[in-house]
Amino acid sequence: MGLKACIFDLDGVIVDTAKYHYLAWKKLATMLNINFTEVDNERLKGVSRMASLNIILEIGNMHPDDRTKEKYAALKNKWYVEYISRMTPDEILPGSVEFITELKAAGIKVGLGSASRNTPLILERVGIRHLFDAVADGNVVNKAKPDPEVFITAAKMLNTDPEFCVVFEDAVAGVEAALNAGMLCVGIGSEKTLTKAHFVVPGLALMNIGKLKEIEKNRRL
Ligand code: G6P
Ligand code: MG
Repeated sequence: MGLKACIFDLDGVIVDTAKYHYLAWKKLATMLNINFTEVDNERLKGVSRMASLNIILEIGNMHPDDRTKEKYAALKNKWYVEYISRMTPDEILPGSVEFITELKAAGIKVGLGSASRNTPLILERVGIRHLFDAVADGNVVNKAKPDPEVFITAAKMLNTDPEFCVVFEDAVAGVEAALNAGMLCVGIGSEKTLTKAHFVVPGLALMNIGKLKEIEKNRRL
């Protein structure tokens, strides 16, 4: 197999933090009298904190100044951190640890590529930091997905060229980032949403090395 490294998004791939982002944004939206729904929340997946706030303000047709926006983003993050501080290893999505363990045993490097600046806290809470050879997150990159920076950075940390990397992503912006990085991309979720991914599975529980080899072979055909 030509693939040398697997890079995982965090929120929605390894852990289900989307519900906590939603609850915290919903609290802010309610405070601002903005009607924000779970459908709107789909647009925030994989998108940075400030870009998410801008989407919510756009829904409410509000145009606060930058200082006020910083205040709103900090408030949302305070509520979000309260939720994730209570996370436990039970919240790791099914199959993730098993698949990563299988990859490592096969000598494939494992990295993380997430926009979240809360990545270290989440990894610590659910106890899986040790599984990753490299972590590229919102604390070390500046450009938000669909810019490829986060995945390119993870590949560099893993000393692997992008063409030998595969990305696992649940967000449309994240799939685009992987493609922009020149990497193979496995979408996690629905084929209807992740139309640009090379292959889509509902969750990592359905992934194993055999399947990965098959996906890689089909790409080359
Ligand atoms: C991930 C999530 C987004 C979130 C972003 C920033 O990409 O999918 O919904 O907005 O991280 O997270 P942060 O924890 O830094 O606010
Ligand atoms: Mg995600």
